[in-house]
Amino acid sequence: MTDAYIQDIDRYEGQPVTIRGWLHNRRSSGKIHFLIVRDGTGFLQAVMSKKAVGDEVFTRADHIGQETSIIVTGTVRADARAPGGFELDVSGFEVVSPSADYPITPKEHGVDFLLDRRHLWIRAERQQAILRVRHEVINAVRDFFNSRDFILADTPIFTPAACEGTTTLFPVQYFEDTTAYLTQSGQLYNEANAMALGRVYCFGPTFRAEKSKTRRHLTEFWMVEPEVAWANLDDVIELAEGLVASVVARVLDRRQRELKVLERNTSKLEAVKAPFPRVSYDEAAQLLKDKGLPFEWGGDFGGPDETALSEHFDRPVAVHRYPSAIKAFYMKPDPARPEVALCVDVLAPEGYGEIIGGGQRLDDYDLLLQRIKEHGLPQEAFEWYLDLRRYGSVPHSGFGMGIERVVAWLCGLEHVRETIPYPRMLYRLYP
Ligand code: 4AD
Ligand code: MG
Repeated sequence: MTDAYIQDIDRYEGQPVTIRGWLHNRRSSGKIHFLIVRDGTGFLQAVMSKKAVGDEVFTRADHIGQETSIIVTGTVRADARAPGGFELDVSGFEVVSPSADYPITPKEHGVDFLLDRRHLWIRAERQQAILRVRHEVINAVRDFFNSRDFILADTPIFTPAACEGTTTLFPVQYFEDTTAYLTQSGQLYNEANAMALGRVYCFGPTFRAEKSKTRRHLTEFWMVEPEVAWANLDDVIELAEGLVASVVARVLDRRQRELKVLERNTSKLEAVKAPFPRVSYDEAAQLLKDKGLPFEWGGDFGGPDETALSEHFDRPVAVHRYPSAIKAFYMKPDPARPEVALCVDVLAPEGYGEIIGGGQRLDDYDLLLQRIKEHGLPQEAFEWYLDLRRYGSVPHSGFGMGIERVVAWLCGLEHVRETIPYPRMLYRLYP
């Protein structure tokens, strides 16, 4: 008897196989049980007739609960009506460990109920599909940078100071008398790494003590951040375009089954090809006004503004040159117009909003020091960062892309909370 994974079931037509998994669902009609078995790689209907397995086994299968772990053996049969094209004619059946009163039933549950049981909810077909798309996005990102000779250089999680503003820092007691902060972004270390290695990226968890309860915010999320020595703003806009287009193409190529489970309209994703439209902040502000939104030049785009902008285009849009005053301290002012920064946000279409933020870094020592002071940041904590401008400063640029926002967009989800196995939010630290 061959052990098989459901995802490979088409290789075994007409052959006997053993599937190890869990009972997902079941229905019976007198002398036949239809058992939906899942094994982590897929779902398969196992058809058990009383005649084939005998009274004793048939009766035992009658009483098992949802999520009972089971070992099923049988012959693989092609069936055009079956979701995956195959069914299993059961000849043997074994219960490994029972499951009674499984809390998540096929009926509708509220999202808080499900989030409290996230460790079980991830067994659901939709949730599995989302996590597989996430896996594909992460691998596509790694392949994109690795195939372009970027070096993966990890940046620390415990950091001595803020990178993205002081209001969203998570402090951590670091031994007796030091406060560390969970990193908001690997960027500053990435810049040092780029001065050492040229083209680098970091990819890890980042933390923001955001008190916002929007559908786009988590307190712990994963960000990939490339940083490139000698690159300017246009260079990284092009890099961002290439990255997004390649991630979308890869998911379309390899995750059709999952996108189907999620009932995603893939024609919208097929349109995502470089080049993306580029608009300046000024143009975007005008566009919002034309749409009747109460937007004033100088402010940051709020959720509804981002939604409106990203619904306006059929593919991601790169918005560049925001007012320096609303951006981080490390942004280089545009020499042609210093009140705006050489920065870019990429907004995903269909109302998903910002998925990428980045730009060209301030490479001038004096101006950077001035900015650190203006932002009320502790200079001692940034001496190492200032060193990058003391010892052979060069123009350089980079960006960060939030994985959860990308997955939410590609999967067509309402909220980012389903895009990570265990979401961390303002009111959620469990399970
Ligand atoms: O725009 P952000 O804050 O940029 C930075 O952190 C830069 N230091 C990155 C860089 O240039 N290396 O964040 C970058 C991206 C956002 O576009 C968004 O996709 C994601 O990170 N992001 C979040 N995702 C989920 N929840 C949050 N609270 C997020 N904050 C940012
Ligand atoms: Mg941003």
